[in-house]
Formats: sequence, structure tokens, C-alpha cells
Amino acid sequence: MRIWAVANQKGGVGKTTTVVTLGGLLAEQGKRVLLMDLDPHGSLTSYFGHDPDTLGATAFDLFQHEGKVPEDLPGQLVMPTGFDNLSLLPASSALATLERRMVGVSGMGLVISRTLALLWDDFDFVLIDNSPSLGVLMINSLAAAQHLLIPVQTEFLALKGLERMLHTLQMVMRSQQGNALQYTIVPTMFDRRTQASIKSLHAMQRDHGDQVWRFAIPVDTRFRDASSAGKPASVLAPGTHGVRAYRRLLADIRTRLQAAGAPLSAAAKKLA
Ligand SMILES: Nc1ncnc2c1ncn2[C@@H]1O[C@H](COP(=O)(O)OP(=O)(O)O)[C@@H](O)[C@H]1O
Ligand SMILES: [Mg+2]
Repeated sequence: MRIWAVANQKGGVGKTTTVVTLGGLLAEQGKRVLLMDLDPHGSLTSYFGHDPDTLGATAFDLFQHEGKVPEDLPGQLVMPTGFDNLSLLPASSALATLERRMVGVSGMGLVISRTLALLWDDFDFVLIDNSPSLGVLMINSLAAAQHLLIPVQTEFLALKGLERMLHTLQMVMRSQQGNALQYTIVPTMFDRRTQASIKSLHAMQRDHGDQVWRFAIPVDTRFRDASSAGKPASVLAPGTHGVRAYRRLLADIRTRLQAAGAPLSAAAKKLA
């Protein structure tokens, strides 16, 4: 199992789109993929036609057992998406109440790692969608992940969000004393006709060098179409330039991780 988290403390930068599109591409390659929604807004859950306000069995249930995860629970929460090889572990809006209730409860940071350890043989890839806020959900996600993708919109305001995300990452990693989590910054919604896009891309490359993916995901209206249709863009419009860019991103990340020998996350260590 490979576990990638997609996070940025700014909203509307393409996190959910990245999760769905990469998930669709991996599924198309025959990988068994689990998309996990840890955003109380439940955009990923809604994407596949479920209502995070009314769903009964969701990621919220994982956090109701004092940090332990009953062995048969994760499997009961996984739902089909209607697309081959692509499953969903949905969110509930009740996830928003966790932050308040979990303060000071120890062991709460490893709930998702424990969950994935229990699903270890069922999936080849897990992609975790996150909310913009730093809290128990994001901490769980970063602890479980072997790689972090940070989508950053190519505009100036978004660069601040990136700095905040990297600061958070540092803080969380320091408190967990684990291996530093490898990350890839993914420039998104790139519009080569605008100076703002070009300049902010250059600023990202200047400040973060090799951590920035060498290309960018272009603005492509097909992503919005795909989301209204409830289909991964890779299914709705496999040849569109946005999907082609995600295909290249996927290949690049996999090459990079193979070369680096991805470190084991907490979930993997637990099993080792
Ligand atoms: N590359 C892109 N080009 C055009 N629209 C995009 C692109 N990526 C995402 N979008 C659209 O932008 C909006 C926000 O994207 P989303 O993935 O939901 O962001 P986040 O999860 O970070 O809040 C959605 O309507 C989505 O369809
Ligand atoms: Mg989202």
C-alpha cells in the first residue's frame, strides 16, 4: 500500500480535484485505489454523489473508540464509487466536531494510520483529501502518509498559503519525531496567458527549487464538468490537457519515490 496525502491550508487550490484525478488514473492502470475524505466539508464524498450531512457510516466513526480502531470497522466504511478499482471512505460533516472533542485525548493522531494498517492488503494506493484547517484530521493524515502533495494555485495570494502549509508540516513532523515527510508542490490552475500565473510559478520555483514539480496543472474547464458529472476527469475527458498534465505528474512522482525509496509511514511501521 502506498499512502499519499493531498493538503494545503488554503481552500480552492485543487486538492479534491487532484485526489479524484490521480485516483482515476491509478484505477485505470489497474491499481486498487481508496480515496479517503477527511474534509468535514465532504467535497470528495459529494463528488461521488453522497451527502456528508446524512451518511451514517463515515470516517467520523473511526474516531469514536479512544484512538483504537475496531478491526472490522474500516472495511465497513469503504464504499464503491461506481468506477472500477476506485473506492471511497466518505466524510461526514460531524468530522468538524472532532477538533473540539479530541483536544488532549492521547493516541488520537494515529487513528488513520491504524485504519490503513487494517486495510493494508485491500488497496494498492490510498489518496487522502484534507480540509484547509490544521487539527487532529490533518495530523492523522500527515502521520499516515508516505508522501504529501501540496497543490498551489499559481497566483500570489496562494504563495502565502504554501508557506503556512510548510510551516505546519515542519511543526507536526517535529512533534512526531518521525522521518521528515517528503513532499511535492504541485502548481495548479496555471494560465500561461496571465502574468500573475507566470510570475507566481517562477516565485515558487525560485523559493522551493526541486520540491516544485517541473510542470504545472493548467486551467482546464473539463475539471468542473467532471465534478458536475460526478466522474473523474480521467474518465470524462481522458485526452484533455489537464488530465494529460496529471498523468505526467503521476509518472514523475512515482519515479521520484522509487528513486528515493519512500520511507515507511506510521501505518507501515506499525505492521513492520
Ligand atoms: N486545473 C483546474 N482548472 C480549472 N478548474 C479547476 C482546476 N482544478 C480545480 N478546478 C476547479 O476549482 C474548484 C476548486 O477545486 P477543488 O479541487 O475543489 O479545490 P480544494 O479541494 O483545494 O478546495 C472546483 O470547482 C474545481 O472543479
Ligand atoms: Mg476540497
